[in-house]
Amino acid sequence: MSEFRVRSIRALDAAFPVPGDKSMSHRAAMIAGLADGISTVRNFLPSEDCLNTLGAMKACGVAVEVLEEMPGFGPTAMRIHGCAMQLSAPSAPIDCGNSGTGMRLLAGLFAGQSFDCELFGDESLSGRPMGRITRPLGEMGARIDCRGEKPGCAPLKVHGTKLHPIRYELPVASAQVKSAVLLAGMFCDGVTTAVQPADTRDHTERMLESFGVKVVTEGPAISIEGGQVPQARDFRVPGDISSAAFWVVAAAALPGSRLVIRDVGLNPTRTAVLDVIERMGARITRTVRSAADGEPIGDIEIHGAALHGTELLRAEIPNLIDEIPVIAVAAALAAGKTVIRNAKELRVKETDRITTVVEGLRAMGGQVEEFDDGMEITGGAPLHAATIESHGDHRIAMAFAIAGLFARGETVVRNTDCVNTSYPGFARQLAAVLAESKDAAAYDLPTVPVSA
Ligand code: S3P
Repeated sequence: MSEFRVRSIRALDAAFPVPGDKSMSHRAAMIAGLADGISTVRNFLPSEDCLNTLGAMKACGVAVEVLEEMPGFGPTAMRIHGCAMQLSAPSAPIDCGNSGTGMRLLAGLFAGQSFDCELFGDESLSGRPMGRITRPLGEMGARIDCRGEKPGCAPLKVHGTKLHPIRYELPVASAQVKSAVLLAGMFCDGVTTAVQPADTRDHTERMLESFGVKVVTEGPAISIEGGQVPQARDFRVPGDISSAAFWVVAAAALPGSRLVIRDVGLNPTRTAVLDVIERMGARITRTVRSAADGEPIGDIEIHGAALHGTELLRAEIPNLIDEIPVIAVAAALAAGKTVIRNAKELRVKETDRITTVVEGLRAMGGQVEEFDDGMEITGGAPLHAATIESHGDHRIAMAFAIAGLFARGETVVRNTDCVNTSYPGFARQLAAVLAESKDAAAYDLPTVPVSA
């Protein structure tokens, strides 16, 4: 089992890209796979999650020609021969690995087919709630059995059938649920509408539009008319802002640091992490250079500072839900209190991320109060090294590797293979950052004022 060994660093002065966006790579595999014609997808994220989704499309008759690879991981550029909405029955159950996005979106896609299939995942995914998609899909006429040991959990047996359109008011702000409903709606006659209680990432809508499918957004209501066939096109996946967030925090919390991350996705439904880190005192410039594929893409430049605490706004939560573990690390390094509430969704991610973050920060000397829906972190006291268990959660492993860059002593993060589910190459990037920066212990540890 692999681990990270991390020591404190004095400053970060670097410029590098991050791999392709996970959410968009899932959708690119699905939408290019459904399209009429051959699409070229570039900067695809060769993470286990996205490769499983690509594998699912291949299992349903979509041919994929690999053009480029990230050595040791998998394809980053490929030609996808779309099936023009004519998927064929897979011959075996489909493995979604660790991915909630893969399983929930594929369930939406498969619910309206003329064949049955089974979706399964690893232990973590088999404990995550699937009722949130089986309910709306059931209202559309889908028959999905949750066959897991836990009620409402995977494996899912999807009995494909003709669906009918609905207007669905989402009880939780979830891009996965919205997307599952919209993808199922593509196979209905008539208009399907998903109404969100708060804005969530809109990659499904944008990508469908860029593949020529009309999606109508009227305030919180997003509608799609069934029967439209996506038209193949070339699509370049921007860098993943959620992966960039780890380095953004590393640079932001080290006064004197400067970091440039190029070609990263700057979709406004994903950039709240930058707003929060700016609010905490770092200087961040964002330059959008293009939105050619329907997604804003550009560079960010971060200048580190002595950070201070902040309060995350209710409306920001869905926009930065995946970044909360590393925002919590920033909060532990910032003077004063940071309040994270209305984030109960964290409890049903790859781990219960409220518990895993609170445990990890406390192990490193952080002062944290846990709530049912979040936490309050009183930052500013120096962190010390600890051995942190990732519990197989990629974002926990990476967030605590970043915490280790600020801690006295050598931090060990255990069980780190999981980072490959979202950020292949993280270990290499971490090693490069450590190699290029002097040990802070040889100087003064990065210090922040103890009170705001
Ligand atoms: C995702 C949506 C988010 C996010 C997940 C990816 C997506 O979950 O946490 O990592 O690609 O649609 P929600 O469905 O809870 O918004």
